[in-house]
Amino acid sequence: MFITFEGIDGSGKTTQIKLISDFIKNLKYGIILVREPGSTPVSEKIREILLDKENAMAPETEAYLYAASRAELVKKVIKPALDKGNIVICDRFLDSSLVYQGIARGLGLQAVYQLNTMALGDLKPDVTILLDLDPMVAKARLKKLDRLESEQLDFYRKVREGYLYLADREPERIKVVDAAQGVQQVFEDVLSIIKNKMGRRLL
Ligand code: TYD
Repeated sequence: MFITFEGIDGSGKTTQIKLISDFIKNLKYGIILVREPGSTPVSEKIREILLDKENAMAPETEAYLYAASRAELVKKVIKPALDKGNIVICDRFLDSSLVYQGIARGLGLQAVYQLNTMALGDLKPDVTILLDLDPMVAKARLKKLDRLESEQLDFYRKVREGYLYLADREPERIKVVDAAQGVQQVFEDVLSIIKNKMGRRLL
């Protein structure tokens, strides 16, 4: 089972991923936790380039770097882990590129999808949790600012709308959770979505 988490910066993904992975670990499932960009030696180096405030770069360059980081992660970690029967949870995946580069940076969904086909192969998340939050609330929550997090509110509005657009197109895979609720309530929503997807296998 391949689970991805998406949402604007500050939507609480990290907290929820920690809670859900602890829950699944307690059930004695093999679980691998990864994040994008990153989680392999090469992908972490690409992450440093991407998130460094000094590195102003063209949206196209950004899109290729995210795809390169993803290719490495899929080949070296995600695919092998799934093949061995593990549950894999990924903090951001293709939808981040579709929304940040494709929609918010204006490269186009189709172009960004095309660019990622080699990185993905036939891999697709079984379920994607979208933590939906008003950018104003998210921004107030963020403590440290990296290059992307210092973007204008307007950018985040586009990102949020982009995510909701994708969720509308793929309601079976992308499940929207109201991230403005308290941590515990969000967790309960996330858990119920995952239980639903896994069916009896989890119980
Ligand atoms: P990170 O700090 O890991 O995210 P978060 O704030 O959710 O903890 O930074 C990842 C940043 O990279 C985030 O701003 C979104 C951006 N991003 C893209 O623009 N495209 C992508 O394909 C991915 C995976 C991330």
